[in-house]
Amino acid sequence: MESSFALKKNETQALKIPKHIGIIMDGNGRWAQKRGLSRSCGHKAGAKVFRKITLYCSRLGVEYLTVYAFSTENWHRPKPEVNFLMNLFEQYLNECLEDFKDENIRVNFIGDTKKFTQKLQRLISKVEKASQSSTGLVLNIAMNYGGRAEIVSAVKKISQRILANEITIDEIDENLISENLYTFLQPDPDLIIRPSGECRLSNFLPWQSVYSELIFMNVLWPDFTEKDLDNAILQYNKRDRRFGKVK
Ligand code: FPP
Repeated sequence: MESSFALKKNETQALKIPKHIGIIMDGNGRWAQKRGLSRSCGHKAGAKVFRKITLYCSRLGVEYLTVYAFSTENWHRPKPEVNFLMNLFEQYLNECLEDFKDENIRVNFIGDTKKFTQKLQRLISKVEKASQSSTGLVLNIAMNYGGRAEIVSAVKKISQRILANEITIDEIDENLISENLYTFLQPDPDLIIRPSGECRLSNFLPWQSVYSELIFMNVLWPDFTEKDLDNAILQYNKRDRRFGKVK
């Protein structure tokens, strides 16, 4: 496995590895279309890349990886495509379970997972529980995730606490909102990568991404390699992050 590293060990040591990387896994459909294949084939190829890139991030020492697997808007796709994706999630979550355990990866799902079938919900809980004690990479899988829905859910949780007289309106601040998001206790993403050539965030981590470095790449997700991740990290290292301050 060591040979699949794209960056050599001395190169990674000289680089700042982002603590938290977000990836919008986009371009599966176009990848398949270009080959005259069904969109499902593209998702299948994309799932393989998800597994490969997760393991690579873990080995690079990335602490948090958030992947956008299914958005709140993706339910509007044709039913056969949605069904295919649900089956693919089941298959992959089952298959990756061992990989993740061996790699000391902790899996966490972000999004409203209650909308999934009972079977998939049980699998999600199983994967989360099985990896709970892992101390390595935290892998957030965003499924039925929407950034706006996440903020609405935080507002509701906070409002309930106000109604129960547990907190006052004056206590609402940025920390309180962050604490009520799915990414509670996690650092904001340093780097967000979107392959496929689209240059937008599409409802991915709108609160958390305000100071993320954004890298849009012209490669379709199923073609994304460890080398592409290296290139994104190299570009990230050239960015001057000031967080609104003067250096
Ligand atoms: C976007 O590409 C991709 C998705 C909606 C699905 C992503 C899911 C995977 C890669 C599987 C991951 C598996 C697990 C278990 C997390 P698109 O279909 O919008 O591509 P297009 O823009 O070219 O049509």
